[in-house]
Amino acid sequence: MNKNYIIPNEWSIIEDGFDAENVEASESLFSIGNGSMGQRANFEEDYSGKTFQGSYIGGIYYPDKTRVGWWKNGYPEYFAKVLNAPNWIGIQVQINGANFDLNTCEISNFKRELNMKEGWLSRSFQAVLPSGEQIELFTKRFISVKYNEVGAIEYAVKALNFSGEITFTPYLDAGIENEDSNYDEYFWETLEISESLNKACILSKTLKTEFHVATAMEVSFALNNKAVELTQENKVEEKAIYYSYKLAVSEGDTATIYKYGSYVSSLNYANDELVKAAYENVTNAKDLGYQQLLEAQIKSWDEIWHTADIIIEGDVKAQQGIRFNIFQLNQTYMGTDARLNIGPKGFTGEKYGGSTYWDTEAYCIPFYMATKDANVAKNLLLYRYNQLDKAIENAEKLGFKNGAALYPMVTMNGEECHNEWEITFEEIHRNGAMVYGIYNYVNYTQDFEYVPKNGLEVMIAIARFWHQRANFSAAKNQYVILGVTGPNEYENNINNNFYTNYLAKWCIEYAVECLNRVKKEYANDFERVIAKTNLTAEETAKWLEVSNNMYFPFDEGKNVYLQQDGFLDKEIIPVDELPKSERPINQKWSWDRILRSCYIKQADVLQGMFFFENKFSKDELERHFDFYEPLTVHESSLSPCVHSILAASIDRMPKAYEQYVRTSRLDLDDYNHEVHEGCHITSMAGTWMSIVQGFGGMRVWEDGILTFNPQIPAEWKSYSFTINFRGNIIKVYKSQTECKFFNESENEVHLFIKGEKISIPAQQLVTV
Ligand code: BGC
Repeated sequence: MNKNYIIPNEWSIIEDGFDAENVEASESLFSIGNGSMGQRANFEEDYSGKTFQGSYIGGIYYPDKTRVGWWKNGYPEYFAKVLNAPNWIGIQVQINGANFDLNTCEISNFKRELNMKEGWLSRSFQAVLPSGEQIELFTKRFISVKYNEVGAIEYAVKALNFSGEITFTPYLDAGIENEDSNYDEYFWETLEISESLNKACILSKTLKTEFHVATAMEVSFALNNKAVELTQENKVEEKAIYYSYKLAVSEGDTATIYKYGSYVSSLNYANDELVKAAYENVTNAKDLGYQQLLEAQIKSWDEIWHTADIIIEGDVKAQQGIRFNIFQLNQTYMGTDARLNIGPKGFTGEKYGGSTYWDTEAYCIPFYMATKDANVAKNLLLYRYNQLDKAIENAEKLGFKNGAALYPMVTMNGEECHNEWEITFEEIHRNGAMVYGIYNYVNYTQDFEYVPKNGLEVMIAIARFWHQRANFSAAKNQYVILGVTGPNEYENNINNNFYTNYLAKWCIEYAVECLNRVKKEYANDFERVIAKTNLTAEETAKWLEVSNNMYFPFDEGKNVYLQQDGFLDKEIIPVDELPKSERPINQKWSWDRILRSCYIKQADVLQGMFFFENKFSKDELERHFDFYEPLTVHESSLSPCVHSILAASIDRMPKAYEQYVRTSRLDLDDYNHEVHEGCHITSMAGTWMSIVQGFGGMRVWEDGILTFNPQIPAEWKSYSFTINFRGNIIKVYKSQTECKFFNESENEVHLFIKGEKISIPAQQLVTV
């Protein structure tokens, strides 16, 4: 796999020159989406080379039967996967009867561009077919943000050296598979294929989950930019429908097909309305026309960028990197639907099944909270609230009682999908992230009302879980939590993981604090929640007995909290001293060697110190950073951002920058040699945090005060970012010599910069 083939550019991802080796990587990198659906950048025309087809609809999944080596009681029966959906982009092309396939042609001037400013993907090149015809091809496509069930393609072929016939065969194909299917099963059943002039529709349903999806297309044509009507020839197969159109061309002519596609699903329509709705979508799109749809697209992205853009001067690659992250996050989730969430690969691949992980609460919420209005982050919280009953059932299955909840490690509809005991049953720290998400949201938005209305029930159920999961150790005379996996998945079945114990204690304390406040300020809600949960003062007293007496492994000599009991028994050798040839250790070492080693996959103790930085002194942060960071291999994409932010907060800018670079271009430069599988979407939110919270030093703790401590890497001239803080748009600019804040809103805004209070009147710029 070639690395570093993406051309640096401030607003676009560009591939210059065709290399079949890069096709699958580019299919991931150039993915497009609109939060409701998305797809890999597969070619429209047939391609016989290596390719990974993918087009996905948010919330449409299939329960693939679990595959494990040795079954353990409590494992879920299935793993829900976002499905590869029927293909709507396909257009076969024949030149004088010969099929056009990039893999068999001589290609020149190949250029692919993902324009992030305007939200479209294009491809252009010249090709010589084996039969000698030369063509020039230009194609552009996008998935509309405004009309969120619609996509559009412009596909133009110029006859360079011949006169004759160009045949376009646009098609819909529901005979698709998932690459990661456990038993090579088909996940879709085709119910109905309908045809009519220039448009067609396939109604299909997912097996088992019975989601119904209608996929429609409608086409129109132009010759040398003038609309032409053509006659279609139809071919209907069991799972696909093809229309062929022939255009007579003279040398120099350009034949263009416009293809409009739509997915509609039973998430939003009654089953018997789907076909009609899909047809309406494509016809409306065609009537509006490609150009108008594109203009609407440009406007939608302009609005998104207004509150989301980060500008970096003096480093084009860094600029491209951060915009790529922001762009992909928006393509994955727009926040308008509380049933959807953010899969670690978004709509760019199948790995992780498109399911929801703790990544959302721990990494993504801050991004959506600060770049969109508060409802977006709230929808992410409501997603978990709506799945509370399932989390309680999940805990019951594992033997917990009395309304205790264990949120799943991996889920689509609230049920656990993960099936490795050391993670499914033991990586329980994820429960803490659910509460941390609420805490973060309340601090940032000051919308405490979310707690009495929804959040409190979640917190009670989670506090119950921690109370039951901890046990009293007579030997230690304290409460302990045994048999867990922390965020560092390179340790399993350990006792007293600092991070897990810390979160357990904190979750209980925060739940009790919120209960007290709700009792005082929201008496009706308090009564409702107490009645629903049967919570008594005796029970909360028992929780507090656990949280007040929680054990934390600590080493007096080194003056640090230990990641877990016995951590110092390991042979401690910094990562720097490992030969390069042995890394990444997850590819080079046996699993047992990894487990016994001191190497840390991703922030663990430091994840806790990142979450609760205000509860530790700078000395403590430094000491723990200096102890753990050198042992960290950062083999999870979620790792570098946390270290970058912590490094900035202890004034280690070179380290912060080193870790930032690693996170920001992780996919563009394919650091992990796996971008062909899809992009690392959830860690992209971490990249955003590295700038805003890391370099910008933005924090909002319990007091609700917005604070900044802007610093700048030596490598950059300046950077600026925008946040939406409680409805007020604030722009922050930092250069090597200056720091400015612009309050774009109609209200005066108060904030603290390096500990000093500043008030910025409406529409004013303040230099500090
Ligand atoms: C990380 C987890 C993360 C998951 C999905 C794993 O490699 O260790 O913390 O939730 O990937 O991003």
